[in-house]
Amino acid sequence: MAEAIPDLRKVPKARAYAELRGHTDAILDGVDDQVTAMATMAALVHHAFGHLWTGFYRVAVPGQLLRVGPYQGSLGCVDIAFGRGVCGSVAAESKTQIVPDVAKYPGHITCDARSQSEIVVPVFGQQGDLIAVLDVDSDHLDAFDMEDARGLEQLVSWFAQ
Ligand code: SME
Repeated sequence: MAEAIPDLRKVPKARAYAELRGHTDAILDGVDDQVTAMATMAALVHHAFGHLWTGFYRVAVPGQLLRVGPYQGSLGCVDIAFGRGVCGSVAAESKTQIVPDVAKYPGHITCDARSQSEIVVPVFGQQGDLIAVLDVDSDHLDAFDMEDARGLEQLVSWFAQ
């Protein structure tokens, strides 16, 4: 029987992410499949927090091209070049970015006009190589902070273990 996704919208973020990491580890116990893990994390994060869009852009051509992977929400853009938009910048720099107001981010790529703020974290594989970025969008301004950065980075550290 599948686990239910908890509603964590009113739970302090540190506890909420710890709970999500616990769910992830339980669901993925014995699973060695990046796509399965990405789909599971996208569903958990998206519905637990009620985000606008939650998903992965996978490295299709190292150093050059990201291509959309498992996600939840409205249709995502398919391809993003390294260095373009928030996702491409995070991929190029391998460093998390928090964007409190997407309208003020030069070169922001709009996939859904309702998006107002976003966070993108790099995802590293077992060799320490960049395999993807995780992008989370909100229809509220300033929805993400360092606790989200820490929580999401901790969640996607699953791929490096
Ligand atoms: N806003 C992102 C593009 C991806 S969508 O938001 C799903 C960016 O600027 O990279």
